[in-house]
Amino acid sequence: MGEQTSSVAEAALAALVHLKEDIEGALLDTAEGINEYRIRHLSRKQGQITALLKRIPDVAPEDRKRFGLEINAAKDRVEARIEEATAAITGAGTASAASVDLTLPGRTQAQGSLHPITQARRLITRVFENYGFDVAEGPEIEDDWHNFSALNFPPDHPARDMQDTFFIEEPGTEHDGILLRTHTSPVQIRIMEEAMKEGEPPIRVIVPGRVYRNEAISYKSYCLFHQVEGLYVDEGVTMADLKQILHAFARTMFGEDVRMRFRPSFFPFTEPSAEVDIWWKDEDLPGGGRWMEILGCGMVDPNVLEGVGIDSEKYTGYAFGMGIERIAMLRYGIEDIRTLYENDVRFLEQFS
Ligand code: PHE
Repeated sequence: MGEQTSSVAEAALAALVHLKEDIEGALLDTAEGINEYRIRHLSRKQGQITALLKRIPDVAPEDRKRFGLEINAAKDRVEARIEEATAAITGAGTASAASVDLTLPGRTQAQGSLHPITQARRLITRVFENYGFDVAEGPEIEDDWHNFSALNFPPDHPARDMQDTFFIEEPGTEHDGILLRTHTSPVQIRIMEEAMKEGEPPIRVIVPGRVYRNEAISYKSYCLFHQVEGLYVDEGVTMADLKQILHAFARTMFGEDVRMRFRPSFFPFTEPSAEVDIWWKDEDLPGGGRWMEILGCGMVDPNVLEGVGIDSEKYTGYAFGMGIERIAMLRYGIEDIRTLYENDVRFLEQFS
């Protein structure tokens, strides 16, 4: 007899295993579907789970507990699925307590970060503010006068070609050379013009901003980039002041052991002119690194001062223009300028 009742239990459990496929897998996306599912499993007359429950008395006492637990678990699942599916199709109410998994990890908010160019610009600006410079801005769409002529570029001078300009209106047309500024130096002119309306130098200002050049794109050049212009005009300003402030800047930016060099150069609006390079360490390169140009600078050409009405016998000045991207690359070890413009989050999130 015991053997018989336990085989009753085995047969019922086997039926239950079979049932589970439907209990877990049935598609419950309509009210009719849910109703049929309820009838199929739980109805008093036709329900398969109900049928199994009725067989409990046939099962041997020692197997009853296991049998009962299995069936009750199946019944709980059916009820939970009905409740969940009903809530989903009516859209009403929240999910049942049973369907909320409190052990799931929470949803975290992704932490944003400032673009490395913005970070570098803010840092550069702060360093010069600490040295007493004011901060100013100027327009990105410029005229030929401010971008070139007032800066002592003669009309047909090859130095204009150096700048690879994006023209909006060609020179000689009605508006005579409206262009995307190729450097932040035109803001020097605007600032000196403004200052002379109100009085005299001293003028001590830095100008961060975006500039554009129609040049070949490479790991170190892009068609748009950012500069910070510096201008200091006063009595008795010398090249030594310029070198001193740029050295101090480089040490703040890149550390006390930074290697920096001044190279003689040419700009139409400064005389003498220089370019400044910083040593980029890279063990893979022959010589252990290379020099990277970060800025152009020089003593403001007397012609430029006179052009805006500043007495060049009384006043002298220095100016510099540095590339923010170059500085960001050196500071953060970025090897290719183009990565700064691709907006790849995997790259950008390294700077948070
Ligand atoms: N405007 C120059 C450039 O874009 C840099 C510069 C600025 C040079 C100021 C001298 C003085 O290359």
